[in-house]
Amino acid sequence: MGKALSHHWNLHNEQDTLSWGQRFSGFLKPGLVVSLVGELGAGKTTLTRGVLLGLGYTGRVKSPTYPILETYSLSRFHFYHFDFYRICDKNELEDSGFRENFGGSGVCFVEWPDKAQDWLKNVDINIKINMLESSKELIIEALSEAGVLCLENWQKLGWQ
Ligand SMILES: Nc1ncnc2c1ncn2[C@@H]1O[C@H](COP(=O)(O)OP(=O)(O)OP(=O)(O)O)[C@@H](O)[C@H]1O
Ligand SMILES: [Mg+2]
Repeated sequence: MGKALSHHWNLHNEQDTLSWGQRFSGFLKPGLVVSLVGELGAGKTTLTRGVLLGLGYTGRVKSPTYPILETYSLSRFHFYHFDFYRICDKNELEDSGFRENFGGSGVCFVEWPDKAQDWLKNVDINIKINMLESSKELIIEALSEAGVLCLENWQKLGWQ
């Protein structure tokens, strides 16, 4: 893989997180897998809601706890929102629709990827949200060639 590519932002409120997601959505390509890392309440689902808004989805975005997968059929691609928080073993992961939808032409966003441990491979982009005292720090990092290509397009525009 080429050079590591990452960038960070400070998000001061929910609207910041939503509009960040809307901007990021413009760079997504079919097949990308994005992991979302951060404590409970860090803003992972809010960010995903922003991405879906950017992709033209205006309906309700549920936290995918039961079931652990929510699927959205959008004009550009299928969008799969996973939340592995409650995954305890590999069988539960298999039942989630994980195999069928990973590595295809849809875009996958995954909350709590660490609960899927080493079964979750081929993550292209990782997003980490750190809770600071009065804001949230978001760090985005490319983990694959496809991830680098995606973020390079944003970098060229000055990460606006
Ligand atoms: N940048 C922000 N600053 C302050 N509050 C925020 C920010 N982004 C989101 N929030 C708020 O934080 C709360 C929790 O957000 P959210 O449900 O998205 O977290 P989560 O990371 O998905 O949590 P979980 O791990 O439980 O799924 C929501 O009420 C949301 O409005
Ligand atoms: Mg969530």
